[in-house]
Amino acid sequence: VARAKPKPAADTVSLPAAEAAVKAAYERYRGLNEGKNADYIPALAKVPSQLFGIALVTPHGQVVAAGDVGHAFSIQSISKVFTLAQVLQESGEQLVEDAVGVDATGQAFNSIVAVEQHRGREMNPLVNPGAIAATGLVKGDSADAVWASISRMHDACAGRTLSVDAEVYRSESETNQRNRAIAMLMSAYERFPGDPAQAVDLYTRGCSIAANARDLAVMAATLANGGRNPITRTQAIDNRHIPGLLAVMATAGLYDDSGKWLFRTGLPAKSGVGGGLIAVAPGRFGVAAFSPPLDAAGNSVRAQKAIIDICRDLGANPY
Ligand code: DON
Repeated sequence: VARAKPKPAADTVSLPAAEAAVKAAYERYRGLNEGKNADYIPALAKVPSQLFGIALVTPHGQVVAAGDVGHAFSIQSISKVFTLAQVLQESGEQLVEDAVGVDATGQAFNSIVAVEQHRGREMNPLVNPGAIAATGLVKGDSADAVWASISRMHDACAGRTLSVDAEVYRSESETNQRNRAIAMLMSAYERFPGDPAQAVDLYTRGCSIAANARDLAVMAATLANGGRNPITRTQAIDNRHIPGLLAVMATAGLYDDSGKWLFRTGLPAKSGVGGGLIAVAPGRFGVAAFSPPLDAAGNSVRAQKAIIDICRDLGANPY
């Protein structure tokens, strides 16, 4: 009796196909000159705009890369995902749903209107009010202890010790009045868990973590691989927290453009104003791209285009 052939591993990606897709996207967009570096944080305006890198990592730890994948930059809002992972790990989904919220605000990432509209409730952990609140939920007796947990989670997902870009941290700390106002407003509505000033400072430090596109692809691949880092094989995040994390990335990962992103890719993703973008194809790959110039919503123009094409070429849309 003929045995059925073993099914090809539909849950992974063919390496030659991934190489072709990454190379094609890199070549297609390397000359594109659209968008503008974030300049509301002075240090970000100085990053060379022409930098462009793409990296893709499979659950088996294979790495495909093109362009400036070794250039470290501040991960900015991408850190929101990994701080949330720490909260889920320590306290579980229910606390996040109750204390922060998981609905999309539909507003800009630093919207004060969103806080006002919901009186500090229903703040998605991937936009600033919810992210600062999530930082306030991380356990620890001191700021240093909280920071140690947040940075440990980032390091475990990246598979190496990441550092904080001191210049970005200083620059952003001097110009983050809006985030301080957001935390204080939530506090006024008695919706802020913990000390708002400490949380804003640690949130700002998280935004200033420096990583390169390859690191971010490993972090994305950790999410694609059920929370296990595909390079170090360490279980960085419990598998049971991955669906919730990916769900909030799908609802709010690209802020008020999250619907457009989902429409085009079907994949959870997260952007940062430093120009980084990660996307997760569960079981198949994690991908990251880096290019500083942003569109009006604060998302990297070239990184979005490159990842959209790669995901299309690799048939990654699950819908
Ligand atoms: O809170 C801020 O203003 C930034 N440090 C992070 C925002 C961000 O990355 C928005 N991203 N697209």
